[in-house]
Amino acid sequence: MKICCIGAGYVGGPTMAVIALKCPSIEVVVVDVSAKRITAWNSDQLPIYEPGLYDIIKQCRGRNLLFSTDMEKHISESDIIFISVNTPTKTSGLGAGKAADLTYWESAARTIADASKSDKIVVEKSTVPVRTAESLKRILTHNSKGINHEILSNPEFLAEGQAIQDLLKPDRVLIGGFETPQGRKAVQVLRDVYAHWVPEDRIIIANLWSAELSKLVANAFLAQRISSVNAISALCEATGADVSQVAYAVGKDSRIGPMFLNASIGFGGSSFKKDILNLVYICECNGLAEVADYWKLVVKINDYQKNRFVERVISSMFNTVAGKRIAVLGFACKKDTGDTRETPAIDVCKGLLEEKATLSIYDPQVTKEQIQHDLAMNNSDLNHSNYLQLTNPATIKQVGKASNAYEAAKGAHAVCILTEWDEFRKLDYQKIYESMQKPAFFFDGRNVVDPHKLRAIGFVVYSIGKPL
Ligand code: NAD
Ligand code: UGA
Repeated sequence: MKICCIGAGYVGGPTMAVIALKCPSIEVVVVDVSAKRITAWNSDQLPIYEPGLYDIIKQCRGRNLLFSTDMEKHISESDIIFISVNTPTKTSGLGAGKAADLTYWESAARTIADASKSDKIVVEKSTVPVRTAESLKRILTHNSKGINHEILSNPEFLAEGQAIQDLLKPDRVLIGGFETPQGRKAVQVLRDVYAHWVPEDRIIIANLWSAELSKLVANAFLAQRISSVNAISALCEATGADVSQVAYAVGKDSRIGPMFLNASIGFGGSSFKKDILNLVYICECNGLAEVADYWKLVVKINDYQKNRFVERVISSMFNTVAGKRIAVLGFACKKDTGDTRETPAIDVCKGLLEEKATLSIYDPQVTKEQIQHDLAMNNSDLNHSNYLQLTNPATIKQVGKASNAYEAAKGAHAVCILTEWDEFRKLDYQKIYESMQKPAFFFDGRNVVDPHKLRAIGFVVYSIGKPL
C-alpha cells in the first residue's frame, strides 16, 4: 500500500511520520507545493519544532517515508491520499473574516482529479466546513475519467508541542464515510491503517457530516472552556478569589474535568479562532443567528482578555509605558512550539507598542525575523478591540530580540510572561529583580510563577485571576 499526503505542515509532517513509523509495510510520501518546506523536511533543520519528531523522521526518512514536490507521480501511485493543506479564514469576499478559505483545498482536490489514473480513497485531514465532502466529490469527478474516488473524513485532533504523544496515543481517531457499501469498505481500509497502533475501541466510525462537524465542535468546546475560565479570572481579580483555586475546585467535578481550565492572556494557535468563526458562519448560513451569537462570544471574551492584560500593565505602571522598557518572555502561542499563528503575544505586544513602550522579547523557539514579521502584519480580522490595530513600521524599531530571559529583563521596568515555557518557572528571579529598574513590575499572563515568592523578592506582581 502507498499513502500520499498533500500538505507538509504541522499536521501532514507529524501524522505521516507516525503512520510510517507504525506501519513499516506502507510507503508514505508527503508532498507540498512549497519546495522550501520539502527541502527542510529532507534536512536536519525540520521546518517545525515538535518534541520527539526529529527522532521519528530520522528513523523513517528514506525507509518508508519520503518528502517530495513531485505531486503528480506520488498521487497517481497512491491508494490513499490525505489532504492536509491549510484552511485559513477568508480575508476578502463573501464571508470574509469568518468563512474558511478553501482555495488551497480546492487546488489540492483538482491536482488529485488531474493526476489520478486509478481508484483512490481521498481523506479529508484538514479541518473543513461541514459538507465539504460534497464539493470535494464534485471536483474529483469533474473530469469523469471513470475513476472512483471514495471520500472519508478523518479530522486531526493533535495539539502542537505535544503532537507526537497525541499521535502515538490518541484519545480517539474519528473516521467518517458515506453510508454505502463502497464507503464502508473505504472506512475499513483506513481503520486497518490506524489499527497498527490504535486500540480498536478508540477508533470511532461516524457518518461523513458528523465527522466533519465534530472537529469544529471539539475546537469550539475547548476554546469555550478557556474563555469561560478567563471570564471568571476577571471576576476573581475583582473579588479576591484565586482563579487557580476556583478552576481546581470546579475541575474536580468529574462531569467538568480538570483540563483546559488554565486562565491565560487568551488562547492563540492556528485553529481555535478560525474554527469558531467558521462555525459561526455555518450557523449564520443555516439561519441560526442565536447559535452563531453564542459561539461568537467565545472569541469576544478572548479579545477582552488580551486587552484587559494590556490595560492592566499600563494602569499599574502609573498610566504610561511610553519610553519604558518591557521584557516580554515568550512569544509562541503555547510552550514547546515555535508556532506564532494567532499568538496572543502579537496583540499584547502591539498594544504596548501603541503606547510607545520599548520591547525586549525572548522566546526559545521564535526567531527575531518571525517576531518582526508578526508585529508588522495587519490584523485582517473582525476584531473590535482597542489595541488590535496596524502596528506602524516605525514602532517595529521599538522591538528587540534578546538571547535569553536575563538579557531581556536587564534594565527593564517590567517583565511580562506571555508563554508558559517551562524554563520560565526555573529562572533566578532574584538576579532578574536586581538587574531591573525599580519599582520592578511583573505581569504573569500564564500563571507560571508563585506571586508570593516574587513579592517577597520585591517585585510588584500581577498574575491573571489572582489577588493583587
Ligand atoms: P500548515 O500551513 O502548517 O501546512 C499546510 C501545507 O499545505 C503548507 O506547507 C502548504 O505549502 C501546503 N499546501 C497548500 N496548498 C497546497 C496544494 N494545493 N498542494 C500542495 N501543498 C499545498 O497547516 P497545518 O497547521 O498543518 O494545518 C493543516 C490543516 O489541519 C488545517 O485545516 C488545520 O486547521 C488542521 N489542523 C491543524 C492542527 C495544528 O495543530 N496545526 C491540528 C489539527 C488540525
Ligand atoms: C488545538 C486543540 O487542542 C487540538 O485538539 C486541535 O487539533 C488543534 O487545536 C487544531 O485543530 O489545530 P493547539 O492550538 O495546537 O491545539 O494547542 P492547545 O493546547 O489547544 O492550545 C491552544 C491555545 O490555548 C494556546 O494558546 C494555549 O496557551 C491556550 N490554552 C490552552 C489556555 O490558555 N489555557 C488552557 O487551559 C489550555
